[in-house]
Amino acid sequence: INVALLAGGYTGEYEVSINSAKNIAASLDASKYKVYTILIGRNEWVYQNGEETIHVDKNDFSITVDGEKIKFDFAFITVHGTPGEDGKLQGYLDMIGIPYNTCDSTTSALTMNKAYTKAIVNGIHGLHTAKSVQLHQKDDHDIAAIAATLKFPLFIKPNNGGSSVGMSKVYNVSGLHEAIEKAFKEDDQILIEEFIKGREFSIGIARLNGKVTVLPATEIISSKDFFDYEAKYTPGVTNEVTPADISAEKNQQIAEIVTQAYLRLNCRGMTRVDFILLEGSEDFYFIEINTTPGQSANSLIPQQVRAAGMNVTEFYGQLIEGTIK
Ligand code: DAL
Ligand code: MG
Repeated sequence: INVALLAGGYTGEYEVSINSAKNIAASLDASKYKVYTILIGRNEWVYQNGEETIHVDKNDFSITVDGEKIKFDFAFITVHGTPGEDGKLQGYLDMIGIPYNTCDSTTSALTMNKAYTKAIVNGIHGLHTAKSVQLHQKDDHDIAAIAATLKFPLFIKPNNGGSSVGMSKVYNVSGLHEAIEKAFKEDDQILIEEFIKGREFSIGIARLNGKVTVLPATEIISSKDFFDYEAKYTPGVTNEVTPADISAEKNQQIAEIVTQAYLRLNCRGMTRVDFILLEGSEDFYFIEINTTPGQSANSLIPQQVRAAGMNVTEFYGQLIEGTIK
């Protein structure tokens, strides 16, 4: 089976994607899958064959290596952010007729938008969302008036970002302006959202051999003010506990909520849901769902797969087998 492993992209999560791709390439069962890592750039898509840079023919999604045309049976997308997590590559692959590992283009586009996703998961029993306001870059904003409707601290985030790129936590009105400018550098829509104090969890869910399977939850205990880019990717800054130290009952509750979100959003493949258990309450607050979650060796999903007693080679194999008919 020829697998095109799509990596790179052109957002602040480029490096993360490259690390995800390295781990996936090393983990896919080499006796079954022949893996070609393809770097997705803004203008060109390339496969590096030793010293030779080969351009992908986008008309039929093929490469020509040593005079031989190679087509792909499966695309494994691990581009975080656009164009791999927001439905664009998915739409292209649908047109070409190649199966892939992620949610379809509609769900990918929808879930890339944090505000839209919140609107959809809001009705799930037991799942809450933080109060927030969405701003568009081209509109005039009365920052002070907006701030007056929300309770500090606030998170300012690009609506379609990832890995906390462009995100800030702000404690009072004076920091708001700068934080908004920073987020608008990443996206023309941003979210100003109330901070929910509590324990933070992240949990993977995937269709394995076609069956929806919830992975063990991870609790994220960050020594930084929030789980920012540095805390996410610098070893030692964050304590990630997998499986999370929570009661069986809470675990069950999380699994149910996550399954509801996955089904309601019509997800496929592996996704990872991030949420907070509000301090002093039983209420779970949804943060977001990641439809192309990080796959570097230390990323959360690989940790959760190991905690479930599987290895990533089996896990990726079951993801692919459930998709190729
Ligand atoms: N956005 C990063 C890659 C994640 O969710 O893991
Ligand atoms: Mg994310």
